[in-house]
Amino acid sequence: MATTSFSGMRGINFNGGGGGMAALVPPLLLVAAAFLLGGAQVEAGDPPFSCGPLSAEASQGCAFCDATLPPAQRAADLVSRLTPAEKISQLGDVAPGVPRLGVPAYKWWNEALHGLATSGKGLHFDAVGGVRAATSFPQVLLTAAAFDDGLWFRIGQAIGREARALFNVGQAEGLTMWSPNVNIFRDPRWGRGQETPGEDPAVASRYAVAFVRGIQGNNTSSSSLLQTSACCKHATAYDLEDWNGVARYSFVARVTAQDLEDTFNPPFRSCVVDAGASCVMCAYTAVNGVPACANADLLTGTVRGDWGLDGYVASDCDAVAIMRDAQRYAASPEDAIAVSLKAGLDIDCGSYVQQHATAAIQQGKLTEKDIDKALTNLFAVRMRLGHFDGDPRSNVYGALGAADICTPEHRSLALEAAQDGVVLLKNDGGILPLDRSAVGSATAIGPNADNGMALIANYFGPPCESTTPLKGLQSYVSNVRFLAGCSSAACDVAATDQAVALAGSADYVFLFMGLSQQQESEGKDRTSLLLPGMQQSLITAIADAAKRPVILVLLSGGPVDVTFAQSNPRIGAILWAGYPGQAGGLAIARVLFGDHNPSGRLPVTWYPEEFTKVPMTDMRMRSDPATGYPGRSYRFYQGKTVYKFGYGLSYSSFSRKLVSVTNMPALSTTILAGLREMMAEEDGASYHVDDIGTYGCEQLKFPVAVEVQNHGPMDGKHSVLMFLRWPNATNGRPLSQLIGFRSHHLKAGEKGNLWFDISPCEHFSRLREDGRKVIDKGSHFLMVDNHEMEIRFEA
Ligand SMILES: *[C@@H]1O[C@H](CO)[C@@H](O)[C@H](O)[C@H]1NC(C)=O
Ligand SMILES: *[C@@H]1O[C@H](CO)[C@@H](O)[C@H](O)[C@H]1NC(C)=O
Ligand SMILES: *[C@@H]1O[C@H](CO)[C@@H](O)[C@H](O)[C@H]1NC(C)=O
Repeated sequence: MATTSFSGMRGINFNGGGGGMAALVPPLLLVAAAFLLGGAQVEAGDPPFSCGPLSAEASQGCAFCDATLPPAQRAADLVSRLTPAEKISQLGDVAPGVPRLGVPAYKWWNEALHGLATSGKGLHFDAVGGVRAATSFPQVLLTAAAFDDGLWFRIGQAIGREARALFNVGQAEGLTMWSPNVNIFRDPRWGRGQETPGEDPAVASRYAVAFVRGIQGNNTSSSSLLQTSACCKHATAYDLEDWNGVARYSFVARVTAQDLEDTFNPPFRSCVVDAGASCVMCAYTAVNGVPACANADLLTGTVRGDWGLDGYVASDCDAVAIMRDAQRYAASPEDAIAVSLKAGLDIDCGSYVQQHATAAIQQGKLTEKDIDKALTNLFAVRMRLGHFDGDPRSNVYGALGAADICTPEHRSLALEAAQDGVVLLKNDGGILPLDRSAVGSATAIGPNADNGMALIANYFGPPCESTTPLKGLQSYVSNVRFLAGCSSAACDVAATDQAVALAGSADYVFLFMGLSQQQESEGKDRTSLLLPGMQQSLITAIADAAKRPVILVLLSGGPVDVTFAQSNPRIGAILWAGYPGQAGGLAIARVLFGDHNPSGRLPVTWYPEEFTKVPMTDMRMRSDPATGYPGRSYRFYQGKTVYKFGYGLSYSSFSRKLVSVTNMPALSTTILAGLREMMAEEDGASYHVDDIGTYGCEQLKFPVAVEVQNHGPMDGKHSVLMFLRWPNATNGRPLSQLIGFRSHHLKAGEKGNLWFDISPCEHFSRLREDGRKVIDKGSHFLMVDNHEMEIRFEA
């Protein structure tokens, strides 16, 4: 999306109840006014709808009102009744009503990244239905650190319920949510990496499936009612805002077929194929010279064809306009919209298509048929949302209302997600957890200690509550002194003397440092991985002055190079708490004081500052030793790290052991026996996954158990990450690849087995440079920590 309302919001803290946010919300829009023109005769505070006994007479008896027909057929009927001008009016994110048919106005653009947000156009928090806030879950990267797709599903589900509830009370002009963001967090400097589930395609895919199923209502059947519609964005290979003069609007990404297939596209594939997402958004990125929204191979061939998208394709905001203006890909506005709609785009975010489609038709560049195809996809989704079935308050989601937003369950889920995400990075001598009775006085220092904005990051709405780290700390320690130390995370000037004086006077010192949207945000990439401004020197000075080693809590999205803190014995513990959402401060305090045993693990590699030598525009995942290009992510990068992907400590000691499979599967027998082995030059023998076939692939599956034991002293959750390693990393093979993860709660002393289903076709395969999926003949190693199990794959 091209908007960010952040600049207007700096420095604002919430006082609970979301009331502090009211002034920031766009001026009250009388939702009712717009749809009264077209839809049913309803009061302010009612949701818009069409058809049913109470609706405008115009729609009575039309096939599009017949809920027994398939959505696509109903949509086609509606489209066939529209005039050319009415059709064109529907091709922007703000779609007017069609009064003569009783079709209500609609707003396509709504955001729900980590809770209902006001960054789109259709969701309002105001007096109409009395809802003034919604649950703010942690920013996605922190939620990803829990490695728990059950948690991700419940968050999606809660957000979907709140969206339905907001709609039912008349404060939502649309239920198409343009979330989640499942781009791969390719470069640590990316300003929007915080919005994603991290750098690993398997994690991003599983996040996509869990979140989409949750928010849409977990029913992939086209005829079922969608709770809301999810949109996976931004397809594809979008992960740069503005680097060294290269902006996202004009960036031409050079992406290899191999990287596209095994890194950038898998989350989108999972979204569509496994989760049944009803929308995919195309990115600004020009992939190998073709803007994603003009790429017929991607949108029509892959997304709708190969993956079978049942839904619509939306453009990122103004992505069509930039094809002419920034990218110089299209010669005129008419060419830009023609190439997009013909490529498979259904709706443009913006008004560009609405403005120029008439001329494009007159010039013969676009046909009414092209438009009908787009409109049918669009209206079918509105049908599936139940907007043409009469009053939505009588459907299966109809009972949801104001009381279903900011419920105790959703608030505690926001706390749970933040707690489960927090990653303990350093804990020298077991300084944590703290015994609250031993902490007589505390000092909290840092620009992120009492800043409500650091909780909600970007794409937010007014949260139900705003528990900052300072407030969290105050719920454990009565005597807390607070100093921001710097006026913002930029920390151009630091109150070092004052901070040093305060530090020396308290039993314990807590530092809440890190980043903010000033350093990493939409439209803004970082240029350095170090803590900004004077933060580092401030931390060091405070650590020197404090009575005991200090506790450093980092609030940030992307990774920071904190090598100085890792090696400083005056810094006893380091926690990464992401941007932790409305209950984040309490989650942090509960971890610090041992009411929650941390189990989060980093979903991205923490690179050292020297990584910034790598051009952000170099999209290659794989390293190139010949030129010193180091490669990206734990799968390919062999250079120095500050912390590795998957790193995270606990207060308990856990052991994990791969339990050998007694009945080693049929790998060595009949299935492979009949297959030809492909000999690639210099690369040994391999089997083509296509040759093994669906049936063969099913037969090859086998289970593996990991025995996990919590040796104490605390109960706690624990995530097991299982990787595959090849005998070597030549010819583009990853160094290792995550193939599964599971989390599990174990009491101190308890032991349990976690089962993983291994599918060699999926997990042992790799993409060759030519995009073919093969399995090497011979050894493969399953890895959990440093434990390995060899599995030979051959006839
Ligand atoms: C979603 O629905 C499927 C059946 O369609 C079911 O197997 C699965 O357990 C559900 N997922 C959740 C998390 O409820
Ligand atoms: C999904 O929706 C279809 C059609 O409405 C319904 O028949 C089916 O029972 C639903 N499945 C689940 C798991 O809710
Ligand atoms: C790397 O591993 C593959 C597959 O096991 C093998 O065929 C190849 O010979 C190995 N290459 C080197 C250089 O060791």
